[in-house]
Amino acid sequence: MDFLIRTKMKKEKLIQHRTPFYCYDLKLLNQTLDQAQTHAKKHDYHIHYAMKANTNDRILEVIQSKNFGADCVSGNEVKKALEKGFKPNQIAFAGVGKSDEEIEIGLQNDIFTFNCESVQEIEIINELATKANKVARIALRLNPNVDAKTHKYITTGLEENKFGINSWELEGLLEKLPSLSNIKVTGLHFHIGSQITSMTPFKNLCIRVNELNQWFLDRGIHIEHLNLGGGLGIDYQNPKENPIPDFELFFGVFKQFLEPRVHQEIHFELGRSLVANCGSLISKVLYIKNGIKTNFAIIDAGMTELIRPALYQASHSIENLTSVSSDSEFYDVVGPICESSDCFGKKIELKPTKRGDYIKIHSTGAYGEVMTSGYNLREQNPVVFV
Ligand code: LLP
Repeated sequence: MDFLIRTKMKKEKLIQHRTPFYCYDLKLLNQTLDQAQTHAKKHDYHIHYAMKANTNDRILEVIQSKNFGADCVSGNEVKKALEKGFKPNQIAFAGVGKSDEEIEIGLQNDIFTFNCESVQEIEIINELATKANKVARIALRLNPNVDAKTHKYITTGLEENKFGINSWELEGLLEKLPSLSNIKVTGLHFHIGSQITSMTPFKNLCIRVNELNQWFLDRGIHIEHLNLGGGLGIDYQNPKENPIPDFELFFGVFKQFLEPRVHQEIHFELGRSLVANCGSLISKVLYIKNGIKTNFAIIDAGMTELIRPALYQASHSIENLTSVSSDSEFYDVVGPICESSDCFGKKIELKPTKRGDYIKIHSTGAYGEVMTSGYNLREQNPVVFV
């Protein structure tokens, strides 16, 4: 059996590791990053890697080496980005609830921008910046009320969502700005959601951004950069056929529909699309349990290792790496955790599967390892690179 081709790892190497483990394909990571940069650079676009997707040291080192900026959502992510060599002037700090301590980390390091989500947050940043004798560069995260048409838990750009400053607050904010002498508004920031596979929401975003950009320019606010966020989805169903998202199409939509002024820089914060497909979760089958209606394949990875199916009803492609049969059967692939939501997929077609077989859950490089938990006092997983 050709383990080398199917896992990019030899069987002897595979069985050296305690399962479950995350496995990262650095070649695919490099290819994905190169594609993203090539298509972004064509239009002079800047990409900040949304670190929340994966903060594995080795992954961060590769991304940093390719001259991406960083998009951070906690003080610790800012510190980690700096530790890994991301330049302060390429670090954006986002998040709806930054603590005072976290803001201070950003101020001390003179980061590129704080993406601000409320009027009160801007007032606090001004206060802390005054104390620190700094001028904080901020981007206003505006809620564009554009539907990303993705899962409701990862939709962020609707007025009902907690994110961003709503349009009815803008007049009041502009009145306050002159009194906030230790902040400088340099950008406008938007992010409508994640795992967006249709280009229509991005087109709609551009149309709304054009209006809001004009609104600020009309009022004499000099906007240096527009940050359109992240959100580009990947093909979870066919990771082998489509390992790299269509960055050309994605950036092309912004080129076509966004109307920046000559002096304005365009920034993006991509997470999933850069790292999802380079990662997989490798697990071993513990038991096969034959139900009357279903065969359960109980594997040694659970929602503690990959929470996406339980939390967002996400479906990842699943493969039996060990079975050599040309037949197939249907299984409910479940984990060992005492929760019915601990299920990776129902009626999954696999080669006939038995105890000890290796199972690969594809496309887990984004929001996989970072979202693991110690629930049930589960062991920490090893990580393997190929
Ligand atoms: N910028 C902001 C402000 C964000 O909130 C996010 C993701 C990104 C950029 C990056 O988005 P991406 O390019 O990765 O779609 N855990 C969920 C996804 C949560 C996304 C949170 N925000 C999942 O597993 O699907």
